[in-house]
Amino acid sequence: MAILDQQTSQQLIELENRYGAHNYHPLPVVLSRGEGVYVWDVDGKQYYDFLSAYSAVNQGHCHPKIVNAMMQQAQTLTLTSRAFHNDMLGKYEKFACEFFGFDKLLPMNTGAEAVETALKLCRKWAYEVKGIDENKAEIIVCENNFHGRTTTIISFSNDPVARQNFGPFTNGFIKIEYDNLNALESTLQNNPNVAGFLVEPIQGEAGVYVPSEGYLTKAKSLCEQYNVLFIADEVQTGIARTGKLLAVNYENVIPDILILGKAMSGGVYPVSAVLANNAIMNVIKPGNHGSTFGGNPIAAAVAIAALEVVRDEGLAENAEILGNIFREELNKYIETSNIVNLVRGKGLLNAILINDDEESETAWNICLALRDHGLLAKPTHGNIIRFAPPLVMNEEQLLDCVNIIIKTLKQFEK
Ligand SMILES: Cc1ncc(COP(=O)(O)O)c(C=O)c1O
Repeated sequence: MAILDQQTSQQLIELENRYGAHNYHPLPVVLSRGEGVYVWDVDGKQYYDFLSAYSAVNQGHCHPKIVNAMMQQAQTLTLTSRAFHNDMLGKYEKFACEFFGFDKLLPMNTGAEAVETALKLCRKWAYEVKGIDENKAEIIVCENNFHGRTTTIISFSNDPVARQNFGPFTNGFIKIEYDNLNALESTLQNNPNVAGFLVEPIQGEAGVYVPSEGYLTKAKSLCEQYNVLFIADEVQTGIARTGKLLAVNYENVIPDILILGKAMSGGVYPVSAVLANNAIMNVIKPGNHGSTFGGNPIAAAVAIAALEVVRDEGLAENAEILGNIFREELNKYIETSNIVNLVRGKGLLNAILINDDEESETAWNICLALRDHGLLAKPTHGNIIRFAPPLVMNEEQLLDCVNIIIKTLKQFEK
Protein backbone atom coordinates (compact mmCIF):
# COMPACT_ATOMS: atom_id res chain seq x y z
CA MET A 1 0.00 0.00 0.00
CA ALA A 2 2.75 2.40 0.99
CA ILE A 3 4.57 1.68 -2.25
CA LEU A 4 1.40 2.26 -4.27
CA ASP A 5 0.83 5.58 -2.51
CA GLN A 6 4.40 6.60 -3.09
CA GLN A 7 3.98 5.84 -6.78
CA THR A 8 0.95 8.07 -6.85
CA SER A 9 3.04 10.91 -5.47
CA GLN A 10 5.75 10.17 -7.99
CA GLN A 11 3.24 10.03 -10.83
CA LEU A 12 1.85 13.43 -9.89
CA ILE A 13 5.33 14.93 -9.85
CA GLU A 14 6.00 13.37 -13.24
CA LEU A 15 2.81 14.91 -14.64
CA GLU A 16 4.06 18.35 -13.60
CA ASN A 17 7.46 17.65 -15.07
CA ARG A 18 6.00 16.40 -18.32
CA TYR A 19 3.28 19.02 -18.88
CA GLY A 20 4.32 22.03 -16.80
CA ALA A 21 6.97 24.63 -17.54
CA HIS A 22 9.97 24.08 -15.29
CA ASN A 23 9.93 27.53 -13.71
CA TYR A 24 10.09 26.21 -10.12
CA HIS A 25 12.09 23.59 -8.26
CA PRO A 26 9.65 22.35 -5.60
CA LEU A 27 10.54 20.15 -2.67
CA PRO A 28 9.38 16.63 -3.59
CA VAL A 29 6.13 16.46 -1.61
CA VAL A 30 2.63 16.46 -3.13
CA LEU A 31 0.03 18.16 -0.95
CA SER A 32 -3.67 17.52 -1.21
CA ARG A 33 -5.22 19.08 1.91
CA GLY A 34 -4.62 21.87 4.41
CA GLU A 35 -6.17 23.02 7.67
CA GLY A 36 -4.77 25.65 10.02
CA VAL A 37 -1.04 25.09 10.52
CA TYR A 38 -1.12 21.64 8.89
CA VAL A 39 -1.00 20.24 5.37
CA TRP A 40 -1.33 16.62 4.28
CA ASP A 41 0.25 14.86 1.32
CA VAL A 42 -1.52 12.46 -1.03
CA ASP A 43 -0.47 9.57 1.20
CA GLY A 44 -2.18 11.18 4.20
CA LYS A 45 1.07 12.15 5.95
CA GLN A 46 0.66 15.29 8.07
CA TYR A 47 3.15 18.16 8.08
CA TYR A 48 3.54 21.51 9.77
CA ASP A 49 3.58 24.12 7.02
CA PHE A 50 6.61 26.28 7.82
CA LEU A 51 6.44 28.39 4.67
CA SER A 52 2.76 29.45 4.47
CA ALA A 53 2.96 29.84 0.69
CA TYR A 54 5.60 32.55 1.11
CA SER A 55 3.50 34.27 3.82
CA ALA A 56 0.19 34.21 1.94
CA VAL A 57 -1.44 31.76 4.38
CA ASN A 58 -0.88 33.86 7.52
CA GLN A 59 -4.45 33.11 8.63
CA GLY A 60 -3.90 29.34 8.33
CA HIS A 61 -5.00 26.93 5.63
CA CYS A 62 -8.66 26.98 4.61
CA HIS A 63 -9.72 29.36 7.37
CA PRO A 64 -13.48 28.66 7.65
CA LYS A 65 -14.48 32.33 7.89
CA ILE A 66 -12.52 33.24 4.74
CA VAL A 67 -13.60 30.16 2.82
CA ASN A 68 -17.25 30.82 3.74
CA ALA A 69 -16.98 34.42 2.57
CA MET A 70 -15.59 33.16 -0.73
CA MET A 71 -18.24 30.47 -1.18
CA GLN A 72 -21.10 32.82 -0.42
CA GLN A 73 -19.83 35.45 -2.79
CA ALA A 74 -19.03 32.84 -5.49
CA GLN A 75 -22.69 31.82 -5.47
CA THR A 76 -23.88 35.41 -5.75
CA LEU A 77 -21.66 37.42 -8.10
CA THR A 78 -18.09 36.59 -9.17
CA LEU A 79 -16.95 39.16 -11.72
CA THR A 80 -18.35 42.28 -13.30
CA SER A 81 -15.11 43.83 -14.50
CA ARG A 82 -14.72 47.50 -13.69
CA ALA A 83 -16.95 48.38 -16.65
CA PHE A 84 -19.74 48.36 -14.05
CA HIS A 85 -19.84 48.93 -10.31
CA ASN A 86 -20.34 46.00 -7.98
CA ASP A 87 -21.84 46.06 -4.50
CA MET A 88 -18.69 44.70 -2.76
CA LEU A 89 -15.81 46.82 -4.04
CA GLY A 90 -16.60 50.09 -2.28
CA LYS A 91 -17.26 48.30 1.01
CA TYR A 92 -13.89 46.54 0.74
CA GLU A 93 -12.03 49.72 -0.21
CA LYS A 94 -13.52 51.59 2.76
CA PHE A 95 -12.74 48.71 5.11
CA ALA A 96 -9.12 48.31 3.93
CA CYS A 97 -8.43 52.08 3.83
CA GLU A 98 -9.63 52.44 7.43
CA PHE A 99 -7.76 49.28 8.44
CA PHE A 100 -4.41 50.54 7.12
CA GLY A 101 -5.00 54.30 7.50
CA PHE A 102 -4.98 55.58 3.90
CA ASP A 103 -7.41 57.63 1.78
CA LYS A 104 -7.58 55.34 -1.24
CA LEU A 105 -6.88 51.82 -2.49
CA LEU A 106 -6.19 50.54 -5.99
CA PRO A 107 -7.11 46.85 -6.26
CA MET A 108 -5.02 44.33 -8.20
CA ASN A 109 -4.46 40.57 -7.98
CA THR A 110 -0.83 39.56 -7.55
CA GLY A 111 2.07 41.10 -5.69
CA ALA A 112 4.03 41.86 -8.84
CA GLU A 113 1.04 43.66 -10.35
CA ALA A 114 0.73 45.77 -7.22
CA VAL A 115 4.44 46.67 -7.41
CA GLU A 116 4.00 47.66 -11.07
CA THR A 117 1.00 49.76 -10.04
CA ALA A 118 3.04 51.53 -7.36
CA LEU A 119 5.84 52.28 -9.84
CA LYS A 120 3.39 53.77 -12.35
CA LEU A 121 1.67 55.78 -9.64
CA CYS A 122 5.01 57.12 -8.41
CA ARG A 123 6.13 58.14 -11.90
CA LYS A 124 2.85 59.88 -12.69
CA TRP A 125 2.98 61.77 -9.40
CA ALA A 126 6.57 62.79 -10.21
CA TYR A 127 5.57 64.37 -13.55
CA GLU A 128 2.26 65.90 -12.52
CA VAL A 129 2.88 66.95 -8.93
CA LYS A 130 6.63 67.11 -8.32
CA GLY A 131 7.28 68.56 -11.79
CA ILE A 132 10.03 66.27 -13.09
CA ASP A 133 10.64 66.60 -16.85
CA GLU A 134 8.95 64.01 -19.05
CA ASN A 135 10.62 60.59 -19.08
CA LYS A 136 13.30 61.64 -16.61
CA ALA A 137 11.90 60.16 -13.38
CA GLU A 138 14.11 57.76 -11.45
CA ILE A 139 13.15 55.36 -8.68
CA ILE A 140 15.72 54.21 -6.13
CA VAL A 141 15.66 50.47 -5.34
CA CYS A 142 17.87 48.25 -3.16
CA GLU A 143 20.38 45.57 -4.03
CA ASN A 144 19.15 42.01 -3.50
CA ASN A 145 15.55 43.19 -3.68
CA PHE A 146 12.72 40.89 -4.59
CA HIS A 147 9.57 42.55 -5.91
CA GLY A 148 8.27 39.96 -8.38
CA ARG A 149 8.91 38.68 -11.89
CA THR A 150 7.57 41.08 -14.50
CA THR A 151 9.88 42.55 -17.15
CA THR A 152 10.11 45.92 -15.41
CA ILE A 153 10.62 44.44 -11.96
CA ILE A 154 13.43 42.12 -13.06
CA SER A 155 15.01 45.15 -14.73
CA PHE A 156 16.11 46.27 -11.27
CA SER A 157 16.80 42.86 -9.77
CA ASN A 158 20.39 41.75 -9.35
CA ASP A 159 19.57 38.04 -9.37
CA PRO A 160 21.25 36.68 -12.53
CA VAL A 161 18.82 33.75 -12.75
CA ALA A 162 15.84 36.11 -12.77
CA ARG A 163 17.41 38.37 -15.43
CA GLN A 164 19.51 36.36 -17.83
CA ASN A 165 18.20 36.45 -21.41
CA PHE A 166 15.13 38.50 -20.50
CA GLY A 167 16.49 41.85 -21.70
CA PRO A 168 16.19 44.56 -22.89
CA PHE A 169 15.32 46.00 -19.51
CA THR A 170 13.30 49.01 -18.34
CA ASN A 171 15.24 52.19 -17.51
CA GLY A 172 14.68 54.62 -14.71
CA PHE A 173 15.96 52.77 -11.65
CA ILE A 174 18.98 53.44 -9.44
CA LYS A 175 20.18 50.57 -7.27
CA ILE A 176 21.78 51.24 -3.89
CA GLU A 177 22.92 49.05 -1.02
CA TYR A 178 20.16 47.96 1.38
CA ASP A 179 20.36 49.29 4.93
CA ASN A 180 22.80 52.01 3.86
CA LEU A 181 21.55 55.51 4.70
CA ASN A 182 24.67 57.23 3.33
CA ALA A 183 24.06 55.62 -0.05
CA LEU A 184 20.45 56.78 0.03
CA GLU A 185 21.35 60.32 1.06
CA SER A 186 24.07 60.79 -1.55
CA THR A 187 21.87 59.33 -4.29
CA LEU A 188 19.10 61.76 -3.34
CA GLN A 189 21.58 64.65 -3.26
CA ASN A 190 23.03 63.86 -6.68
CA ASN A 191 19.83 63.02 -8.55
CA PRO A 192 17.16 65.75 -8.63
CA ASN A 193 14.93 63.51 -10.76
CA VAL A 194 14.34 60.90 -8.10
CA ALA A 195 10.60 60.28 -7.69
CA GLY A 196 10.52 57.41 -5.20
CA PHE A 197 12.37 54.97 -2.98
CA LEU A 198 11.07 51.39 -3.20
CA VAL A 199 12.03 49.21 -0.25
CA GLU A 200 11.14 45.98 1.54
CA PRO A 201 11.06 46.71 5.31
CA ILE A 202 12.72 43.30 5.73
CA GLN A 203 14.22 41.64 2.64
CA GLY A 204 12.33 38.34 2.63
CA GLU A 205 13.40 36.45 -0.47
CA ALA A 206 16.99 37.60 -0.14
CA GLY A 207 17.14 35.66 3.13
CA VAL A 208 15.17 37.60 5.76
CA TYR A 209 17.60 40.52 6.12
CA VAL A 210 16.41 42.80 8.92
CA PRO A 211 17.82 46.34 8.49
CA SER A 212 19.44 48.23 11.37
CA GLU A 213 17.10 49.84 13.86
CA GLY A 214 16.22 53.34 12.71
CA TYR A 215 16.91 52.65 9.03
CA LEU A 216 13.31 52.94 7.91
CA THR A 217 12.61 56.06 10.00
CA LYS A 218 15.69 57.84 8.69
CA ALA A 219 15.05 56.70 5.12
CA LYS A 220 11.50 58.07 5.34
CA SER A 221 12.70 61.43 6.65
CA LEU A 222 15.32 61.65 3.88
CA CYS A 223 12.54 60.98 1.38
CA GLU A 224 10.48 63.79 2.92
CA GLN A 225 13.47 66.13 2.79
CA TYR A 226 13.95 65.51 -0.94
CA ASN A 227 10.24 65.31 -1.82
CA VAL A 228 10.53 61.67 -2.83
CA LEU A 229 7.84 59.03 -2.24
CA PHE A 230 8.66 56.31 0.27
CA ILE A 231 7.19 53.11 -1.22
CA ALA A 232 6.98 50.14 1.15
CA ASP A 233 6.65 46.71 -0.43
CA GLU A 234 4.94 44.80 2.38
CA VAL A 235 3.73 41.98 0.13
CA GLN A 236 5.66 39.48 2.26
CA THR A 237 6.23 41.36 5.53
CA GLY A 238 2.74 42.86 5.84
CA ILE A 239 -0.47 41.71 7.48
CA ALA A 240 0.84 40.58 10.88
CA ARG A 241 3.70 38.38 9.63
CA THR A 242 6.46 40.23 11.47
CA GLY A 243 4.55 40.76 14.73
CA LYS A 244 2.92 44.07 13.80
CA LEU A 245 0.20 44.70 11.24
CA LEU A 246 2.92 46.16 9.01
CA ALA A 247 6.68 45.83 9.44
CA VAL A 248 7.01 49.63 9.10
CA ASN A 249 4.91 49.95 12.28
CA TYR A 250 8.02 48.94 14.27
CA GLU A 251 9.46 52.36 13.40
CA ASN A 252 6.19 54.28 13.22
CA VAL A 253 6.81 54.96 9.55
CA ILE A 254 3.83 55.80 7.36
CA PRO A 255 4.73 55.03 3.75
CA ASP A 256 3.55 57.34 0.98
CA ILE A 257 2.64 54.25 -1.04
CA LEU A 258 1.93 50.88 0.58
CA ILE A 259 2.01 47.66 -1.47
CA LEU A 260 0.16 44.59 -0.15
CA GLY A 261 -0.61 41.12 -1.52
CA LYS A 262 -0.39 37.51 -0.40
CA ALA A 263 -2.14 37.43 3.04
CA MET A 264 -4.70 40.03 1.92
CA SER A 265 -6.75 36.93 1.09
CA GLY A 266 -5.28 34.43 3.57
CA GLY A 267 -4.10 32.54 0.52
CA VAL A 268 -7.50 31.56 -0.82
CA TYR A 269 -7.62 33.93 -3.79
CA PRO A 270 -5.19 36.32 -5.53
CA VAL A 271 -5.74 39.76 -3.95
CA SER A 272 -3.25 42.62 -3.94
CA ALA A 273 -3.58 46.33 -3.32
CA VAL A 274 -1.81 49.66 -3.47
CA LEU A 275 -2.76 52.26 -0.87
CA ALA A 276 -1.97 55.97 -0.82
CA ASN A 277 -3.50 59.27 0.19
CA ASN A 278 -5.50 61.46 -2.19
CA ALA A 279 -2.60 63.82 -2.99
CA ILE A 280 -0.88 60.87 -4.66
CA MET A 281 -3.64 58.50 -5.74
CA ASN A 282 -5.70 61.22 -7.42
CA VAL A 283 -3.18 61.44 -10.28
CA ILE A 284 -4.69 58.16 -11.56
CA LYS A 285 -7.51 58.78 -14.04
CA PRO A 286 -9.81 56.41 -15.96
CA GLY A 287 -7.82 54.42 -18.49
CA ASN A 288 -4.45 54.95 -16.81
CA HIS A 289 -4.38 51.55 -15.14
CA GLY A 290 -6.52 48.52 -14.41
CA SER A 291 -7.12 44.81 -14.46
CA THR A 292 -10.17 42.75 -15.43
CA PHE A 293 -10.09 40.83 -12.17
CA GLY A 294 -8.78 43.61 -9.89
CA GLY A 295 -11.44 44.55 -7.35
CA ASN A 296 -13.80 41.72 -8.24
CA PRO A 297 -16.56 40.85 -5.75
CA ILE A 298 -14.97 37.57 -4.61
CA ALA A 299 -11.65 39.28 -3.93
CA ALA A 300 -13.45 42.04 -2.03
CA ALA A 301 -15.45 39.63 0.16
CA VAL A 302 -12.42 37.43 0.79
CA ALA A 303 -10.13 40.34 1.71
CA ILE A 304 -12.59 41.80 4.23
CA ALA A 305 -12.89 38.38 5.90
CA ALA A 306 -9.13 37.80 5.81
CA LEU A 307 -8.38 41.15 7.46
CA GLU A 308 -11.09 40.60 10.07
CA VAL A 309 -9.43 37.30 10.99
CA VAL A 310 -6.08 39.07 11.43
CA ARG A 311 -7.71 41.61 13.75
CA ASP A 312 -10.14 39.34 15.64
CA GLU A 313 -7.66 36.53 16.26
CA GLY A 314 -4.83 38.83 17.33
CA LEU A 315 -2.45 37.38 14.75
CA ALA A 316 0.13 40.16 14.96
CA GLU A 317 0.39 39.79 18.74
CA ASN A 318 0.65 36.00 18.40
CA ALA A 319 3.37 36.33 15.75
CA GLU A 320 5.37 38.65 17.99
CA ILE A 321 5.16 36.35 21.04
CA LEU A 322 5.85 33.11 19.15
CA GLY A 323 8.61 34.71 17.11
CA ASN A 324 10.45 35.68 20.29
CA ILE A 325 10.14 32.13 21.63
CA PHE A 326 11.28 30.67 18.32
CA ARG A 327 14.45 32.75 18.12
CA GLU A 328 15.18 32.27 21.84
CA GLU A 329 14.94 28.47 21.54
CA LEU A 330 16.99 28.32 18.36
CA ASN A 331 19.62 30.66 19.77
CA LYS A 332 20.09 28.29 22.72
CA TYR A 333 20.75 25.48 20.27
CA ILE A 334 22.97 27.57 18.01
CA GLU A 335 25.36 28.26 20.94
CA THR A 336 26.50 24.66 20.69
CA SER A 337 25.91 24.07 16.98
CA ASN A 338 28.45 24.05 14.19
CA ILE A 339 25.88 23.58 11.41
CA VAL A 340 23.82 26.74 12.05
CA ASN A 341 25.50 30.14 12.25
CA LEU A 342 22.55 32.28 13.26
CA VAL A 343 18.82 32.80 13.34
CA ARG A 344 17.35 36.19 12.42
CA GLY A 345 13.97 37.70 11.78
CA LYS A 346 10.99 39.46 13.30
CA GLY A 347 7.74 37.93 14.46
CA LEU A 348 7.20 34.71 12.54
CA LEU A 349 9.36 35.68 9.55
CA ASN A 350 12.70 34.07 10.36
CA ALA A 351 15.64 32.38 8.71
CA ILE A 352 18.61 30.31 9.74
CA LEU A 353 21.98 30.54 8.08
CA ILE A 354 23.57 27.15 7.47
CA ASN A 355 27.30 26.90 8.05
CA ASP A 356 28.30 25.69 4.59
CA ASP A 357 29.18 27.00 1.10
CA GLU A 358 26.49 29.04 -0.67
CA GLU A 359 26.50 26.46 -3.46
CA SER A 360 26.33 23.42 -1.18
CA GLU A 361 23.26 21.18 -1.08
CA THR A 362 23.15 21.19 2.72
CA ALA A 363 20.18 23.57 3.12
CA TRP A 364 18.19 21.58 0.55
CA ASN A 365 19.09 18.30 2.26
CA ILE A 366 18.05 19.71 5.64
CA CYS A 367 14.69 20.65 4.12
CA LEU A 368 14.29 17.08 2.80
CA ALA A 369 15.05 15.73 6.28
CA LEU A 370 12.62 18.24 7.86
CA ARG A 371 9.98 16.96 5.44
CA ASP A 372 10.68 13.41 6.56
CA HIS A 373 10.18 14.58 10.15
CA GLY A 374 6.86 16.25 9.30
CA LEU A 375 7.77 19.92 8.72
CA LEU A 376 7.88 21.74 5.38
CA ALA A 377 10.33 24.57 4.73
CA LYS A 378 12.45 25.64 1.78
CA PRO A 379 15.82 27.33 1.26
CA THR A 380 15.59 30.94 0.06
CA HIS A 381 18.99 31.65 -1.36
CA GLY A 382 21.91 29.24 -1.12
CA ASN A 383 22.40 28.19 2.47
CA ILE A 384 19.56 30.14 4.10
CA ILE A 385 16.33 28.43 5.20
CA ARG A 386 13.26 30.60 5.78
CA PHE A 387 10.82 29.66 8.55
CA ALA A 388 7.38 31.27 8.24
CA PRO A 389 4.53 29.19 9.71
CA PRO A 390 0.88 30.28 9.67
CA LEU A 391 0.24 32.87 12.39
CA VAL A 392 -2.62 30.83 13.90
CA MET A 393 -0.05 28.49 15.44
CA ASN A 394 -0.13 28.03 19.22
CA GLU A 395 2.83 27.80 21.61
CA GLU A 396 2.62 24.03 22.01
CA GLN A 397 2.72 23.53 18.25
CA LEU A 398 5.58 25.98 17.91
CA LEU A 399 7.64 24.14 20.53
CA ASP A 400 6.88 20.87 18.77
CA CYS A 401 8.23 22.44 15.57
CA VAL A 402 11.32 23.73 17.37
CA ASN A 403 11.96 20.14 18.52
CA ILE A 404 11.60 18.82 14.98
CA ILE A 405 13.94 21.48 13.62
CA ILE A 406 16.61 20.91 16.28
CA LYS A 407 16.36 17.12 16.00
CA THR A 408 16.83 17.43 12.23
CA LEU A 409 19.71 19.89 12.43
CA LYS A 410 21.51 17.59 14.86
CA GLN A 411 21.70 14.98 12.09
CA PHE A 412 23.77 17.44 10.07
CA GLU A 413 26.23 18.50 12.76
CA LYS A 414 29.77 18.03 11.55
C1 LIG B 1 8.35 41.62 -1.24
C2 LIG B 1 7.63 40.97 -2.39
N1 LIG B 1 7.11 41.74 -3.35
C3 LIG B 1 6.45 41.21 -4.40
C4 LIG B 1 6.30 39.85 -4.53
C5 LIG B 1 5.60 39.28 -5.72
O1 LIG B 1 4.37 38.74 -5.40
P1 LIG B 1 3.63 37.75 -6.40
O2 LIG B 1 4.41 36.47 -6.39
O3 LIG B 1 2.24 37.60 -5.85
O4 LIG B 1 3.65 38.40 -7.74
C6 LIG B 1 6.83 39.00 -3.54
C7 LIG B 1 6.70 37.54 -3.64
O5 LIG B 1 7.32 36.77 -2.96
C8 LIG B 1 7.52 39.58 -2.44
O6 LIG B 1 8.06 38.82 -1.48
